[in-house]
Amino acid sequence: MLHGIDDAENWHQMLRCDAIGLDVEYPSATGRRSRRIYLDSAATTLRLKIVQRVLDIYQPHYANVHSNIHFAAQISTREYGWAHDMVLEFAGADPDKWMCFFVGNGTTGGMNRVARALRAQRPERDVVVTSAMEHHSNDLPHRKHFREVVHVPMEVTPISLGRVDLVKMGAALLAHEGKVNYVAITGVSNVTGISNPIHEIAALAHRHGALVVVDAAQMAAHMPLKVSGHSEDTRDLDVVVFSGHKLYAPGAPGVVIARKALFADMEPDEVGGGMVDTVFLDRYTVSERFPEREEAGTPNIPGAIGLAAALYALHKVGMDKIAADEKRLFEYALLKLAGVPGIVIYGETRPSLVQRAGVISFNLSDRDHAFCAAVLNDYFNIAVRNECFCAHPYVRDMVSMSLECVADSMSNDELERLAEMHRGMVRASFGVYNTPADVDRLVAALKDISIRGDQLLALYERLPNGNYRHRQWAFDTTKEFSVRSVVDSLLGGDPADNQVEADSAGLVFPR
Ligand SMILES: Cc1ncc(COP(=O)(O)O)c(C=O)c1O
Repeated sequence: MLHGIDDAENWHQMLRCDAIGLDVEYPSATGRRSRRIYLDSAATTLRLKIVQRVLDIYQPHYANVHSNIHFAAQISTREYGWAHDMVLEFAGADPDKWMCFFVGNGTTGGMNRVARALRAQRPERDVVVTSAMEHHSNDLPHRKHFREVVHVPMEVTPISLGRVDLVKMGAALLAHEGKVNYVAITGVSNVTGISNPIHEIAALAHRHGALVVVDAAQMAAHMPLKVSGHSEDTRDLDVVVFSGHKLYAPGAPGVVIARKALFADMEPDEVGGGMVDTVFLDRYTVSERFPEREEAGTPNIPGAIGLAAALYALHKVGMDKIAADEKRLFEYALLKLAGVPGIVIYGETRPSLVQRAGVISFNLSDRDHAFCAAVLNDYFNIAVRNECFCAHPYVRDMVSMSLECVADSMSNDELERLAEMHRGMVRASFGVYNTPADVDRLVAALKDISIRGDQLLALYERLPNGNYRHRQWAFDTTKEFSVRSVVDSLLGGDPADNQVEADSAGLVFPR
């Protein structure tokens, strides 16, 4: 059946209002309950209802994919396999030459696997080139497994830092000619949302015999991916890694998409059940098939199926369409936030110099980032993240640069105080479900904090760990949710005494 533009528009509209948790309410320090505004999608996106619905319908058929005869195992095995097909389709990767496999712990798990595998595959190339704007997950695995990691700086624009500096990256590749195993680069920064030209970087790396490994953890939900099929094949990507929990899916299945050739003809890094054809006491033969050979043990089947559902829904709408829509929201947010008195927005923002998506990090000029995040939460029910977002060097660089800009007009003491308050940032990040009204709530809250800051500060104490705690009010998580109380209420407390409640919840105990 052919689908038209209107279908895609309707599906997009459905996804926009579809996430679980958009209408959740929490009590606040104002004494009222209000609807929470979720601006922390860069950490983890809310889950789409459509994904949960798929999982609910799948659940009765749940079985191990290593069983293969009974009906539920057939269904699970087929759909788990289809999840891999969907990943490749979503990422625009040619299934003849690229494969994908799932790992247990998100992008971090995937990056560690990639670092170990590529080191083993090309041991003579023991240097990795990366950038200074990476999440620790796209830095530390390379540091652990390679002799040297070169951190290429960002372009310095007149007012801030932009994308990675390709001239310096070229120089690093030249300086380590013949030694660079791969260039590991983020598609989109989790601190500034600045996007890097990954295909230009691929072509550059390939000219030096290096591979390109893209951290798409922040990119995949916001921009179309096209791993292969470029007019010049040097622009194709060798490896791409991302996580389900940043793509509207449950749990944290990590996804590795890679050229088959890079993972073939070598002992897989992890061994056990599922990845072998035959095992004798003195030897075993590893399966030739992908993804089996890279997925030892029982995988996270519901996680993969949930992710496949999310990817299929996004793919049906079209990532171009989603990206264009989010771009409008993002530009609106930048414009409105720029009007908050004393705000410092980090990273280059001018569209002529950088493309950005999904994430805006900032500070209020005379406020601690942790205080700001606490007040946004406690008084305005706006969920943001603060601190250094697992990208310490990048955050430090940008904060130092912004302090240098004001250093001349401040005494040393004032500067030290500001440096302490701005040892981290506040980050607002967006998903398919965010609206201009969410941005307006954030902007209004920040304006209020900048006006009433001292009054609010008097209500807080700063803890030794740098967080701020309200002196008279506290949020009790267990009043909103606790596993124990939900189980207790479903089971009716002591099973022996509460058979009626247990029965009414549809649960049956052996007596
Ligand atoms: C750019 C980037 N890379 C890697 C990661 C790590 O992802 P995960 O938590 O799924 O391991 C994150 C998480 O925030 C990220 O933003």
